[in-house]
Amino acid sequence: MCGIVAYIGNKQAYPIIINGLRRLEYRGYDSAGVALHNREDGNMHVYKRKGKVQELVDFVKKKPIESTIGIGHTRWATHGKPDNINAHPHLSGSGRLAIIHNGIIENYDSIKKALIGEGHSFTSQTDTEVLIHLIEAIQERDNLNLEEAVRVALSQVVGAYAIVIMDKENPNQLIAARKASPLVIGIGDGEFFIASDATPIVEYTQKVVYLNDEEIAVVNRDGDLTLKTIANELKTPFVQQLEMNIEELEKGDYEYFMLKEIFEQPTSITSAMAGRINAGEGWIKVGGLMSTYDKIAAAKRFIIAACGTSWHAGLIGEYLFEELARIPVEVEYASEMRYRNPIIGTDDVIIALSQSGETADTMAALEMAKKKGATLYGIVNSVGSSIARITDAGSYIHAGPEIGVASTKAFTGQVTVLALMAINLGYERGRIPRSYYLQLISELERIPEKVQTILEKNDQIKFIAGEIKDISNALYLGRGYNFPVALEGALKLKEISYIHAEGYPAAEMKHGPIALIDENMPVIIIANNKSAHEKIVSNIQEVKARKGQVIAIVTEGDTVISEIADYVIEIPETDEPLSPLLSVIPLQLLSYHIALMRGCNVDQPRNLAKSVTVE
Ligand code: AGP
Ligand code: GLU
Repeated sequence: MCGIVAYIGNKQAYPIIINGLRRLEYRGYDSAGVALHNREDGNMHVYKRKGKVQELVDFVKKKPIESTIGIGHTRWATHGKPDNINAHPHLSGSGRLAIIHNGIIENYDSIKKALIGEGHSFTSQTDTEVLIHLIEAIQERDNLNLEEAVRVALSQVVGAYAIVIMDKENPNQLIAARKASPLVIGIGDGEFFIASDATPIVEYTQKVVYLNDEEIAVVNRDGDLTLKTIANELKTPFVQQLEMNIEELEKGDYEYFMLKEIFEQPTSITSAMAGRINAGEGWIKVGGLMSTYDKIAAAKRFIIAACGTSWHAGLIGEYLFEELARIPVEVEYASEMRYRNPIIGTDDVIIALSQSGETADTMAALEMAKKKGATLYGIVNSVGSSIARITDAGSYIHAGPEIGVASTKAFTGQVTVLALMAINLGYERGRIPRSYYLQLISELERIPEKVQTILEKNDQIKFIAGEIKDISNALYLGRGYNFPVALEGALKLKEISYIHAEGYPAAEMKHGPIALIDENMPVIIIANNKSAHEKIVSNIQEVKARKGQVIAIVTEGDTVISEIADYVIEIPETDEPLSPLLSVIPLQLLSYHIALMRGCNVDQPRNLAKSVTVE
């Protein structure tokens, strides 16, 4: 949720901030704003606009932007509708302090009432404005410097925040703090960059410090960075080297990030496997797994916790671990798990799946499981993220930055790592014979080239998208390993084209959804399973008998389904446990083209944000 960018140094702040906000716009995009300090007139200039960053840029044209310090924000509203007033930055009562904030101040209402009682009045409906008023009130009441006032105020608030504060009377300093929302500081040559993630920073410096929860950083124009906790304990900043390059953050020749990320999958799946598999020598070794092997081998069960697309990958993980490694698995929505006091003990391993590594619900589920003594394992894309840091061990998926709000390459990266882990564990535990182990290894290595052949069918998939683009509903069906793929296909369509879609196990159709089927209900059936092929054929017949339109994803050469379905998309044959890595690709492309044909912004669908750091 929301993107934060701030700068202090000797360059012009405005272009750096706008550039950074554009990079972060995927995190939230209902309004944007900046605060700049003009040395000549001594004033703080605050510009805010409802809508995308471009609206802000258009609004600011010809206005004074001269400043070597500034803060900027793209919002994903939680408190108060998206409009010019609720957009950040927000000012303190006197107008001296400006704040940008990512997160939610949960006890804002009681603080607001108390402040109103003391004579404060508020212009916005946000929780953020309450926080900056509180900071100034504490500063004045206790005669504290700003850093101290921030520290005292933050010890009184409940909730999640990443904040940056600028003081009109001290334009040589920025104060930043975080709890449960990410914040990273880039250290340049006599300059500092502060942002929600490293993407706005990477083109200026590779040296970064990730703030930890409840840490406050003060950066000064003279190049000084001090770090302390809310409990007033001094900390030594841990400076890390960024591993990211700018090309990964650009669209290149693609119209949308989502399309670029779909087409990157042969490479990103290969990256997820790099160093973990060798078909020539016949082995799979997942480093993180081996480092915690004793605990993993002794585990009574795995609990996979995740949200959204990552949860769908988790369901595939359940099938993989149970079938190949014979380890019992439960898959939990992290948002449910955290609130229902589940039975978790020291012999449970919690596997968190997360692209961003910042999802608040997943993080909270992990914190709860940690208190209960479970071992935590993270399968994460974003290096150095909160989930990567809280877990005892883990495996990065190495997909590179995923910018499109609809997750694509992160999903296949997650499934690849889950497959590697399940095969690795299955063999180590003696649950799969060597011959099957070797077969799965060589098949997994061939997945990227098979994905490539599916991408080459883009034009055919685009044609089918054109045929069905005006639908208002769709049903996605799949069996076994491909049931979670049906859920994922439906989510992709909903997210970016706003068409209502449902995913179901194919055999469940007759228990209810079949009532929906008529000539206006397209049914997308993932029918590349080797097992239960006849059963899927029967499901297709049931749909056709009720005049439903069938789009089937089939294995190359499947003449039986080709004869009955309205459209077929052929994909290469593979072992069933690996089949989701192929069957999901046409569904990603189908949603992409349908959304585009309906005029939707596929990278930034309405109401959504890439990283959900609030509950
Ligand atoms: C994916 O297309 C969605 N935008 C969303 O469901 C996402 O998968 C979910 O919010 C989880 O995010 P994470 O993987 O970063 O934890
Ligand atoms: N809670 C704040 C608001 O509604 C911040 C939301 C965000 O993270 O963008 O303005």
